[in-house]
Amino acid sequence: MQIHLNYHLKWIEVMSAKNNKIANLKLPNGSNIEFPIHSGTIGPDVIDVKKLYSESDHFTYDPGFTSTGSCKSKITYIDGEKGVLLHRGYKIEDLAENCDFLEVAYLLLNSDLPNPEQKKVFDNKITTHTMIHEQLSMFFRGFRRDAHAMAVMCGVVGALSAFYHDSTDITDPSQRLVASHRLVAKIPTIAAMAYKFSIGQPFIYPRNDLSYSENFLNMMFSVPAEKYEIDPILSKAMDKILILHADHEQNASTSTVRLAGSSGANPFACIAAGIASLWGPAHGGANEAVIHMLNEIQKNGNVYEFIKKAKDPNDPFRLMGFGHRVYKNYDPRATVMKKTADAVLGAVGKEDEPMFILARELEKIALEDDYFVTKKLYPNVDFYSGIILQAMGFPSSLFTVLFAVARTVGWVAQWNEMIEDSEQRIGRPRQLYIGEKQRAFTPLNKRN
Ligand code: SDX
Repeated sequence: MQIHLNYHLKWIEVMSAKNNKIANLKLPNGSNIEFPIHSGTIGPDVIDVKKLYSESDHFTYDPGFTSTGSCKSKITYIDGEKGVLLHRGYKIEDLAENCDFLEVAYLLLNSDLPNPEQKKVFDNKITTHTMIHEQLSMFFRGFRRDAHAMAVMCGVVGALSAFYHDSTDITDPSQRLVASHRLVAKIPTIAAMAYKFSIGQPFIYPRNDLSYSENFLNMMFSVPAEKYEIDPILSKAMDKILILHADHEQNASTSTVRLAGSSGANPFACIAAGIASLWGPAHGGANEAVIHMLNEIQKNGNVYEFIKKAKDPNDPFRLMGFGHRVYKNYDPRATVMKKTADAVLGAVGKEDEPMFILARELEKIALEDDYFVTKKLYPNVDFYSGIILQAMGFPSSLFTVLFAVARTVGWVAQWNEMIEDSEQRIGRPRQLYIGEKQRAFTPLNKRN
C-alpha cells in the first residue's frame, strides 16, 4: 500500500494492535478517520470506505472506477501486470486447452469443475432447455430485416421475462437456478435465430444430440435443404472462443448486470442490460470494429498511417483490439485466440488470409512502437477473434452477438453471486455537483 499525499488529505496505512491493517485519513479540519483494509486471497488489498460520507461529508471520486472495487467475488481473478486470468483458480489457458464450454460454464456457476457425473447431468440440463417458446419466434418478425443483431438480442432477451414468469422471483433459489439454465441454454438459439432472420432463412431448431458448440454452428449455418457437416476443428474452435469470452471480472457489461440486479430486476432484464452495455465499441463491439479497421487499412491507407492516427491525441481514432483497462501486458486470451486463428484458417484453407497477415504485421509494428510500449497497450481478446469468426463464416455484425452468447454464463454467475452476497444492496453512486447553485424562478413571460 503506497502512502498517498496531497495538500489536503493524507492516507497513511497503520497497523493496529490487532495487526489488522487500517488506513488513516487526515481531513483538512484536522479530524482523523480510520478505515479497515481488507485482504483477498490474491491481488490488491481494498480500503473499506463505506463510512466515509457518514463520518466526513465527503464522497470518493473515481470516474470509470479505475481504483474502485464494487464487490467481493470468487469467480474470476485478473492480474493485469502479469497478464494472468483465472476462473475459480484455474488458468484460462488450461481451461481453453482441456475443457469444452459447458465444463467452464459449470465451473463459473458452481465452485469447481464438474466430475463426469455432474458434467453429464449439467450438459443434459442445458441441452434440454435450448428450445424457446414457439410464440417468441413471432417476436423476431417485428424487427426490420436489416436490424443489427445486437438490437434483436437486446429485445428478445429482455422479452424472455414475458414468457418465463415462473423463473423471475429472484428471492427463490430454485427459480434463480432455472432462470440461469434457461439463459445459458437459450442464448445460442436466440443468437442463431437473429442471424437466420437477418438473412431470410428459416429458423433451425436446436438438436439434443449435438454439443453446445456443434448445436450453435448447426443452428447458424445449416439449412433444411441439405445435410450440414460439422467440422470438428471448427466446433473445437467455437468451444475455445466461447471459453475465452465467458467471464472477465467486473467489466462494464458485468457491472451493468450487477447494478440492474441490485434493484431486484428479473434475470432476463438484467442480462438484456448486459447485452446493451457489451454492444459499445469500447467493449464487446471492438471485435467488429477491428475487422472494419483492418478493411479500412487494406482499402485506403497503409498501416503506418493508422498507427500515426492512433497515437495522435487530437484524433479520436484508436487501434481497435488494442489496450485494456486492466491488462498492461498481453491479454492471455489474445495469445490463445492467435493460436486458434492458425488452426481455423488452416482448416478452412485460408492460411494466407491477407487480413490475418495484416493483423500480425500491425501487431508487430505496434508492439515495437514506443507509444504503445510506454502506455502498455497490447492486443486484447478482440484483436484476433474477428478474423477467426469471419473465417468460420460469421458476418461481422454477429461478432458481438457471439461475445454475448459466451458472456451470458459469466453475467449469470456474477448476478447469482451478487444476490447471494449479504453485503450487497441497491447500487446508488453519488456525484461531485458542478451545476448552478439554487436560484429564483423566472416565469416564462418574464424571460427574454
Ligand atoms: C473488452 O473490462 C474488460 O474486461 C473488457 C473485456 C471483457 O472481457 O469484458 O476485456 C472486453 O472490452 C476488451 C477491450 C476492447 N476495446 C477495444 O479494443 C477498443 C480500443 N481500446 C481502447 O478504447 C481502450 O484501450 C480501452 C477502452 C479498452 C481501455 O481504455 P482505458 O482503460 O480507459 O484507457 P485509457 O482510455 O485511459 O487509455 C490510456 C491511454 C490514453 O492515452 P492518454 O490519454 O494517457 O495520452 O492509452 C491510450 C489513450 O488514448 N489508448 C490508446 C488505445 N487504448 C488506450 N491509444 C490508441 N489506441 C488504443 N487502442
